[in-house]
Amino acid sequence: MNIVLLGPPGVGKGTQAKRLSAALGIPQISTGDMLRAAVSAATPLGLEAKSQMQSGGLVSDDVVIGLIRERLQAEDAREGFILDGFPRTLSQAQALDQMLSQGGKSLDSIIHLTAPDDEIVKRLSGRMLCQSCGAIFHDSVNPPSRGGVCDVCAGPVVRREDDHPDVIRERLKVYAEMTEPLVQYYGERSGYATVSAVESPDSVQAKLLKLLGRGS
Ligand code: AP5
Repeated sequence: MNIVLLGPPGVGKGTQAKRLSAALGIPQISTGDMLRAAVSAATPLGLEAKSQMQSGGLVSDDVVIGLIRERLQAEDAREGFILDGFPRTLSQAQALDQMLSQGGKSLDSIIHLTAPDDEIVKRLSGRMLCQSCGAIFHDSVNPPSRGGVCDVCAGPVVRREDDHPDVIRERLKVYAEMTEPLVQYYGERSGYATVSAVESPDSVQAKLLKLLGRGS
């Protein structure tokens, strides 16, 4: 099953991608996580991406398309994948279609998660992330049970650098300008669906699994 999760920053793409990955046994592929790992490791790619990520802008299409092209060739993505944070521009969406069709594949499901901006700002302002395993928490919705320690791997739980109010505003602006047009690009395809994410993470997950034919 080849799935794209589309939606604004903070809508819950990462939260749901992790849950779907566990439920469906296919990998979550997050360009944000891949880029953050490159920034932490100070690789040439990370050094190139760092300033764009800190300011809430987009990393260049060439860089992220290259990352995805390589990642989709890995063994664990043969039976399916959940793309989280990619594509984010028309060029990225066209490149994805092209690379899938070259392998005789296509997207089965494009799920557009939605939430109003004030809910998104609340979610991002309280978000915490495990630096080791990437588990996602929120200081009021799902706080880690032992303060700054991850419930999954006991790693350190921190705030993301780009969850600063000014950067959140910029990310929402960039989403509206660069990524929202993908709703038109995908809107008429079979497999496209819009799902409100303004419910608990469990309820959103149940709706997604039902949509994917795996829930009751
Ligand atoms: P990326 O990491 O992809 O960030 P994003 O799209 O802004 O999305 P987020 O990770 O912020 O939010 P999310 O939707 O995953 O929400 P989450 O589940 O964490 O990208 C970061 C940067 O990398 C970009 O700005 C860009 O610079 C660069 N980049 C990445 N991909 C790129 C690409 N393709 N092209 C170019 N540049 C790229 O949830 C948020 C919070 O809400 C959490 O605290 C969570 O606990 C809480 N929450 C989740 N669901 C619910 C719910 N149902 N109810 C209440 N709270 C909830």
